[in-house]
Amino acid sequence: MEKIMNNNVYPIFDKMMTRADKEKLLNQHGLMVWFTGLSGSGKSTIAIALERELHRRGLLCRILDGDNIRSGINNNLGFSEADRVENIRRIAEVGKLFVDTGIITLAAFISPNNALRKMASDIIGKDDFIEVYVSTPIEVCEQRDVKGLYARARRGEIKDFTGISAPFEVPEHPDISLDTSVLTLEESVGKMVELILSKNKHKEL
Ligand code: ADX
Repeated sequence: MEKIMNNNVYPIFDKMMTRADKEKLLNQHGLMVWFTGLSGSGKSTIAIALERELHRRGLLCRILDGDNIRSGINNNLGFSEADRVENIRRIAEVGKLFVDTGIITLAAFISPNNALRKMASDIIGKDDFIEVYVSTPIEVCEQRDVKGLYARARRGEIKDFTGISAPFEVPEHPDISLDTSVLTLEESVGKMVELILSKNKHKEL
């Protein structure tokens, strides 16, 4: 394999545009911002508002969430342990492509345990990975019940529902925690903008 990929055989590989070339073009650094937390905790809501604010500041983002991943590339996956692993593995691999293109990638997935989140960080590379724990208490998530899924899970109509009949492991060392029952959306976005900008400050373009 190494021989086939050897640049002497295919000198065109020397001409490939690099991540650094793309980051220079975009005038920003690629980064994975990984939101973990219960269903209804506010992950996608923060990601959407954050993207809007970063866009306003001239930074290009890509949101990955249930709406565009579980209904598309991962529409053959459910919520068994094995499927959740495959869900996160594919998301991390796709996310890595965006990060390698210099794009600030906002991934909003429950990713309910440390092993899953570590797998994502290992695939992407920990220097490019920020873990955001959206720590809104389950009582609040359940009361919001935006999609009516908690009520259905309580009635036993959905099995393996995270927080009700399947576990959620609290992240051990998140880069930041955001409790949306305490913080306003603007406050959460403000904290995220500060963190993302500080993370990029020391890197040359
Ligand atoms: S993850 O656990 O594999 O990371 P993911 O974030 O992709 O989950 O999908 C979670 C969303 O799927 C929830 O917000 C909810 O709308 C929906 N959902 C449907 N069934 C379940 C379930 N059994 N457990 C958790 N979420 C579910």
